[in-house]
Amino acid sequence: MLDRICAGDVPPKHHTQLRGPGGELRYEECFTRDGFDGPYTILYHLRRPHTHRLAPAEHGWRAPAAVGPRDLAKRHYRSGALAAQGPQIDARVPLLFNDDLIAGVAFPTAEDPVYIADGDADQLIYVHRGGGVLRSLLGDLAFAQGDYVFVPRGLLHRFLPDRSAQHWFWLSLTGGLHVPRQWRNEVGQLRMDAPYSHRDFKRTELVGPRDEGIRQLVVRRAGAWHGFALQDSPLDVVGWDGTVYPWAFPILRFQPRVSSVHLPPTWHGTFAARGALICSFVPRPVDFHPDAIPCPYPHSSTHCDEIIFYCDGNFTSRLGVGAGSISHHPMGVPHGPHPGAYEQSIGSTRTDELAVMLDTFAPLSTAPAALEIEDPGYQDSFL
Ligand SMILES: [Fe+2]
Repeated sequence: MLDRICAGDVPPKHHTQLRGPGGELRYEECFTRDGFDGPYTILYHLRRPHTHRLAPAEHGWRAPAAVGPRDLAKRHYRSGALAAQGPQIDARVPLLFNDDLIAGVAFPTAEDPVYIADGDADQLIYVHRGGGVLRSLLGDLAFAQGDYVFVPRGLLHRFLPDRSAQHWFWLSLTGGLHVPRQWRNEVGQLRMDAPYSHRDFKRTELVGPRDEGIRQLVVRRAGAWHGFALQDSPLDVVGWDGTVYPWAFPILRFQPRVSSVHLPPTWHGTFAARGALICSFVPRPVDFHPDAIPCPYPHSSTHCDEIIFYCDGNFTSRLGVGAGSISHHPMGVPHGPHPGAYEQSIGSTRTDELAVMLDTFAPLSTAPAALEIEDPGYQDSFL
């Protein structure tokens, strides 16, 4: 959650009357997290926001089911080999998951035809290819290639991808997403030495009440999609203020850290979630000690599964991976660079890698779609 935003008409004091030009009473909606203890946003509607009727759920991506027991191997999945069609609400493909999160890809080819509220999890989407608009109760958020896009749990929205080819890496985060604590000061502001500032985040623009003609809403709860019929357009918000809202963050706005010797991924921590740390590896100079080995050291991170989504650049420590590759290295066994990479990195001065990395603190299960795009030679490529 970031700093407070105020958009459109709100009354001078919360929980008091707001009226339209003709004296019409507006309807307040308190959108709260963690019961009434956490961050919140207050919206003002033209109409009561809770009048939806039960209806069939005609859209919604499938919850992942785990494939049977697998060897404790390092894995490489070529996500670009998948080609699911349709709107993202239907075309998301889960690949790896545990109780804290689902990680997958999507290649949306159409706008979402219904409104969506994910009652289970915050959504974080890394836009590897493509762009578009996230439309929500709180307004429109334009996003572009290289952006992380955040959608808070429970917020009514739909995605309108543009006509370019789309390739998204997405995370569904059951325990919620937040800025790592080490990047905040004691009043919650981003610290001056944080790797980004409030100005780096793209915000929504409230367009005002409008009617797109869509009267269907689907809500995910406990992994299942539930349908509702709406009487009127839900996009009837005239104003809101608060700290819960969607945003987009361009990965290249992340300010990388460099040291005399190799820094662990913690320093690249961009967002935190229950059971996971999400890191951004962006182009940067490398370690400058005269005897530095810039390539990551082999490591046994005994409590983490590691996922890397490779975006662009030259991945010096790994062979055979390309843009759109996803590696999964499980806890319990050491991992590290491919043969030769460790030695060859000595004397290098820069890396142009661009990648999203995720450490998860609970082991990940594999969804069936991952088997279709697995590189069978990856485990032995480290020999
Ligand atoms: Fe690692």
